Amino acid sequence: MCGIVGYVGPQSALGVVLEGLRRLEYRGYDSAGVAVLADGGQSTAKKAGKLANLEKVLADSPLPESTIGIGHTRWATHGGPTDRNAHPHLSADGRVAVIHNGIIENFATLRAECEAAGVEFASETDTEVAAHLLAATYQGTPEGPGRLAEAMRTVSRRLEGAFTLVASHADEPDTLVASRRNSPLVVGVGDGEYFLGSDVAAFIAHTREARELGQDQVVEIHRQRGVTVTTFDGAPAEPKAYTVDWDAAAAEKGGFDWFMLKEIAEQPRAIADTLLGRTDGQGKLVLDEVRLTDQDLRDVDKIFVVACGTAYHAGLIAKYAIEHWTRIPVEVEVASEFRYRDPVLDRSTLVVVISQSGETMDTLMALRHAKDQKARVLAICNANGSTIPRESDAVLYTHAGPEVAVASTKGFLTQLVACYLVGLFLAQIRGIKYEDEVAAVVAELHRLPEAVAQVLEQMEPVRELGRSMAEADRMLFLGRHVSFPVALEGALKLKELAYIHAEGFAAGELKHGPIAVVDEGTPVVVVVPPRARDLLHGKVVSNIQEVRARGARTIVIAEEGDEDVVPYADHVIRVPRTPTLLAPVVTTVPLQVLACEIADSRGFDVDQPRNLAKSVTVE
Ligand code: F6R
Repeated sequence: MCGIVGYVGPQSALGVVLEGLRRLEYRGYDSAGVAVLADGGQSTAKKAGKLANLEKVLADSPLPESTIGIGHTRWATHGGPTDRNAHPHLSADGRVAVIHNGIIENFATLRAECEAAGVEFASETDTEVAAHLLAATYQGTPEGPGRLAEAMRTVSRRLEGAFTLVASHADEPDTLVASRRNSPLVVGVGDGEYFLGSDVAAFIAHTREARELGQDQVVEIHRQRGVTVTTFDGAPAEPKAYTVDWDAAAAEKGGFDWFMLKEIAEQPRAIADTLLGRTDGQGKLVLDEVRLTDQDLRDVDKIFVVACGTAYHAGLIAKYAIEHWTRIPVEVEVASEFRYRDPVLDRSTLVVVISQSGETMDTLMALRHAKDQKARVLAICNANGSTIPRESDAVLYTHAGPEVAVASTKGFLTQLVACYLVGLFLAQIRGIKYEDEVAAVVAELHRLPEAVAQVLEQMEPVRELGRSMAEADRMLFLGRHVSFPVALEGALKLKELAYIHAEGFAAGELKHGPIAVVDEGTPVVVVVPPRARDLLHGKVVSNIQEVRARGARTIVIAEEGDEDVVPYADHVIRVPRTPTLLAPVVTTVPLQVLACEIADSRGFDVDQPRNLAKSVTVE
């Protein structure tokens, strides 16, 4: 949510910043803007809409050459997505430029204070107060090295809410400063050059050496002095150094029309990487990175899985698997509700938070609530060095690589795999009812990359089907057992990408109301459980007949060899036979492809759907 880039070094800052913004555009695309320091002043350009609009402005009126600059891509919170509200925001004297991600909650009070002092505001944003306050505070800060950083610390102590702020001052042509509270910021360290970014994608083309900042810290990057980090109170702080384990090529489209298509195609590899190194030669799970002792895990008597959106759907599926393997009760909850309803948590509760980005504010707040209540928190996360794993007691990383498309695909499948690993690991440590099941399921997990690859090989008819459905105005998705959350995920993907109203239902619930919306030609996607689950399978086949009898166009996802569905299916999409609990890993894939194709046929931007942002860092 809002992308931030900063650069100091020998290269042309504008080139580096624009390239960084292009890689961060998934975070928000309501407007974009840049500011460089040149000729003793600030030079800025900003434009509503996507980055391409800004690039056009810059082509028509180029900025002066400079080797220090900042850039922003916006997901609007305060103030509409207009040129005026685009970042950077300048102080009244034009000397300070500020970009911001987050929400300054006390901005109204601060704005009134600035206005009382005679400042005229140029935008409706909360960010602009930071520019005016910083300029005024800088005036009152003693001259000398670190003056802008000191002013930033003073201002930061006055701000409430969540923010990453990056600022430059025309009086300090070699310095950028940034401040962070509850909002992401990483520093990149190259050879004589320094970068700031909302995530490492901002500078991955230049360096893989990164520094992770803690909460309530200010960083100065200076052409000669390098990186200096302090707390908001000015105490020196040591940022944690790490090396990014993927490169620039991983963040490119690689010949696909959309990042989403590339990320769908990467899923076999992403699953294999997530499983890599997590078993010994005998099929026993070894999750050393889960920093909870065996005793801690034996003491667990209740599990909550907490997440948002697609990650929440992964949690819903995890419940079936973890309860089955461990017999520990599992509750699954959307993070934005969790802490507000006073859940019963204590030292023997394990809270599993799932987040691809590791920055989702709702999930972070749920995590903090759980820790306050003394529960143990295990994060399943894809982004190394992000806030959620840092604040959790333990972490299991998914190794999906960078997910750029706003809609999560490989993030989801690898979250599922990580959830299975957590469930099986708990089962292994505690000893379970189904004694020999752990090793057998682990072996099945290792077959998943191949199974997903097989699904992907058969996607051409699904694409064709998608193209034929571009005019649909609503769609239903049905499933039972683990296929119910898959149905929810299919509906979410369609809504967010194709802007078609879609709902997922537990197929058994259909007759309790939703079937009333089925009409002649209504597309209904049904995810059928494996035939081995006789009772369940038979019930779902009946559900297909029920909607068909009301005129629905039935699209049925069924395992190879399942002939029972054929008489009632207008279209059958085949997936390889997979054990029931693991089946979501294969049955989700056609739904991703379907949503992507329908959105593309309707002429929409698949990677950057309207109103959305990849990383939602406001509550
Ligand atoms: C949907 C989607 C979102 C995210 C949700 C949580 O395709 O991507 O629903 O799953 O915003 O994001 P993370 O996993 O980053 O916490």
